[in-house]
Amino acid sequence: MKKFALFASAALGAAMLAGCAGAKQEASAQAGNPFATASFQGILKNDFADKGQAKVSRLKQTEAQYECSKYDYLGKPMPDALAKSLEAKAQAGVVYPADGKYLGDWKEGLKIAENGKGMQWSDKPGTPNGGNCLACHKMIANDPSQGNIGPELYHYAKLRGDSEAILKYTWARIYNSGAFNACSYMPPFGAHKILTQQQMKDVMALLMDPNSPVNK
Ligand code: HEC
Repeated sequence: MKKFALFASAALGAAMLAGCAGAKQEASAQAGNPFATASFQGILKNDFADKGQAKVSRLKQTEAQYECSKYDYLGKPMPDALAKSLEAKAQAGVVYPADGKYLGDWKEGLKIAENGKGMQWSDKPGTPNGGNCLACHKMIANDPSQGNIGPELYHYAKLRGDSEAILKYTWARIYNSGAFNACSYMPPFGAHKILTQQQMKDVMALLMDPNSPVNK
């Protein structure tokens, strides 16, 4: 828990879910669009305000966030065709490194993976964000504070190798996990500009470098 901090998308999800519980009855009258109710919009307007760099505009949902929250609220599985189309759009939006180089410095990557700070009103604007990977993934040996919301990534490259296909897949996963699972809980680090391209390369090196503690 100590490393856990809400990212924009996670905070947004929580806000939407909290909001829809209150709007439930009214929403049933507008099947399929629980977030359009006046009471839900009222909650957003009354309970959220710009503070520092955390702006209310962040609450504007992406199409995927809207659809995922909607089906979650309705308690129905998202139709396959919709999930596939959201994933294809996310996939098409992935920006790969311009110089074709996927790997930076794993030591920097480890700091980013351990750092849960960033994007909050109390953070100094311009300070680099963390990736908080360890809050959700076990990545290294002997650190009991790692989370298990995501799959274990310990020995990532040792198990999968470092082929071009794996590099590309891993980059896209970090850029926007929604490209593989429309309603992924993993923050879209590239798509939402949480991490810079260099930071993503450093985190990639953490996963791929044979000398990184992930592969030891
Ligand atoms: C809020 C939780 C959360 C955070 C933070 C998070 N992830 Fe994930 N990650 C997940 C979940 C959940 C999955 C499972 C896949 C899904 O959602 O479809 C996943 C999947 C992955 C995968 C694919 C694993 C596989 O088996 O193919 C990789 C690689 C990955 N994450 C890397 C990272 C890195 C690197 C970071 C930090 C920059 C990070 N994750 C931060 C939740 C998280």
